[in-house]
Amino acid sequence: VKGRIIGISGPTATIDLEGLRLYDRVQLGHSRIHGEVVRLELAGAVVQVYEDTRGLGLGEPVISLATPLTVQLGPGMLGSIYDGLQRPLDVLYEQYGPFISPGTYQPPLSPDKLYPFQPLKKKGDTVKRGEIIGTVTEGNFTHDILAPESGIIDRISQNDFTMEEPLGEMADGSPIQAVHAWPVRKPRPFKKKIPPREPLITGQRAIDFLFPIARGGTAIIPGGFGTGKTILEQAIAKFADVDVVVYVGCGERGNEMAEMLGEFAGLSDPWTGRSLRERTIMIANTSNMPVAAREASIYTAVTIAEYFRDQGNHVLLLADSISRWAEALREISSSLEEMPGEEGYPTYLSSRLSTFFSRAGVVETMSGATGSLTMILSVSPPGGDITEPATQACLRTSGVFLMLDTSLANRRHFPAINWFQSFSLYEKDIASYFTEHVSPHWEELRQDCQTLLQREEKLREVAEIVGAEGLQDCDHLVMYIAEKIRRQFLGQNSFSDDAFSPPEKTVERIDALVLQFENARTRIEQGDAFEDIIREMEP
Ligand SMILES: Nc1ncnc2c1ncn2[C@@H]1O[C@H](COP(=O)(O)OP(=O)(O)O)[C@@H](O)[C@H]1O
Ligand SMILES: [Mg+2]
Repeated sequence: VKGRIIGISGPTATIDLEGLRLYDRVQLGHSRIHGEVVRLELAGAVVQVYEDTRGLGLGEPVISLATPLTVQLGPGMLGSIYDGLQRPLDVLYEQYGPFISPGTYQPPLSPDKLYPFQPLKKKGDTVKRGEIIGTVTEGNFTHDILAPESGIIDRISQNDFTMEEPLGEMADGSPIQAVHAWPVRKPRPFKKKIPPREPLITGQRAIDFLFPIARGGTAIIPGGFGTGKTILEQAIAKFADVDVVVYVGCGERGNEMAEMLGEFAGLSDPWTGRSLRERTIMIANTSNMPVAAREASIYTAVTIAEYFRDQGNHVLLLADSISRWAEALREISSSLEEMPGEEGYPTYLSSRLSTFFSRAGVVETMSGATGSLTMILSVSPPGGDITEPATQACLRTSGVFLMLDTSLANRRHFPAINWFQSFSLYEKDIASYFTEHVSPHWEELRQDCQTLLQREEKLREVAEIVGAEGLQDCDHLVMYIAEKIRRQFLGQNSFSDDAFSPPEKTVERIDALVLQFENARTRIEQGDAFEDIIREMEP
């Protein structure tokens, strides 16, 4: 089916093709750039175009691909860097250099690389849809190859294979493949959802101890410019206790992604000692790339993440930042001349976001394993004002809220997580998990820590009115220890040896500080002077 371009407006184009479905993919113009149908009209459709529309002219041809935007899922993704449409940026860079002309395409999974295949079933075996029939090894990682349909296996390979050839065939003729395509806007199936109960350890004390994130949960990190969103997300990408990390650079600076790529190549996963690159997939849609592809990129990312979840892995999706995604949505919506909602965002912003968030979770997979998909998204509200629509929409659906504070960042307290405004809906479950598995005092210490921080805040207000002389020795002690907690415990420099703190170390450190407090308090009660006690504590 062929048609023509009859209008172009910003990142969208109007075409005269009929018989299309919503989200069908089309190729536009002589350079065959890709787009996706976002509105159907009486005699045609409107398409959001994934590449720069400036090269397109009216009357140029349009071809329907009759499929929605899909990703290729299978071995070969780990360590890759893709754009929002799963084009392999490293492969394209090698071939074409830094300037990729519109319409350029390369397969996302290397077609001629050999992978070892280990069959677990044989010819004549009856299998159920989604049952594991063999495994493919990719480095240290094992991919389960699942039965495409219920039925009998007619042929199954015993050899190494490339992406080109099927691994076998079912009796009804359907091929058994290591690679398959999946439409990005459609969540992948699973047996059932399980409530998140286990922690996703980030190695960041302020998060793990005060505002823990659950595996399968969702967290947002709102913060103004320069408050440390990118550094915090990158630290979590390095240290999180997960099997696979999918990192989306969404509308932010490209050099940050490039630096991260280089840095990760030389680092290892603190939990397994393996190369960090091997567990990471990066999706780059930086500020210089077209907005329609940016809109699509988070769906590409979450679908890849679901693929690994479906194999019984713990997967973490990080996006920096979801606000730039919301802005892309706004730009597309405005060029479609839709009725704008609050601050020009489309009225469906909130429902789109909650549909996206709902793809996180712990699941029982089709093959009966347990997998999880956790999402951590940074939010960059203009001027740091969290009452704006995108932040509010995220806030309504996320389980953890890590508010980054400009005044803390200005004082160089990093991560600049505000300990009064942030919260975690998983705190009860996760604290009891840590109490059981890491330290019997975890919950108690958490209480002590929070109480000390709150008392400090109150005392500071009092001191402002009556002056520091008005405080008693035990008040001075509270302020002294609380400051230590802020500096030595909550503060954690990502560029030092302290960047990663496993839970055992975390609890040890807060335990030592609380113990100091209790000992000093006993001595004050016995009549010792605050100054003397401090002098002894500071070597
Ligand atoms: N955890 C951290 N440890 C040390 N320095 C940090 C940390 N987080 C942020 N910074 C400092 O703040 C700067 C801005 O951080 P960045 O993550 O780029 O902010 P944002 O992404 O919110 O604009 C960094 O270049 C770094 O100097
Ligand atoms: Mg940033």
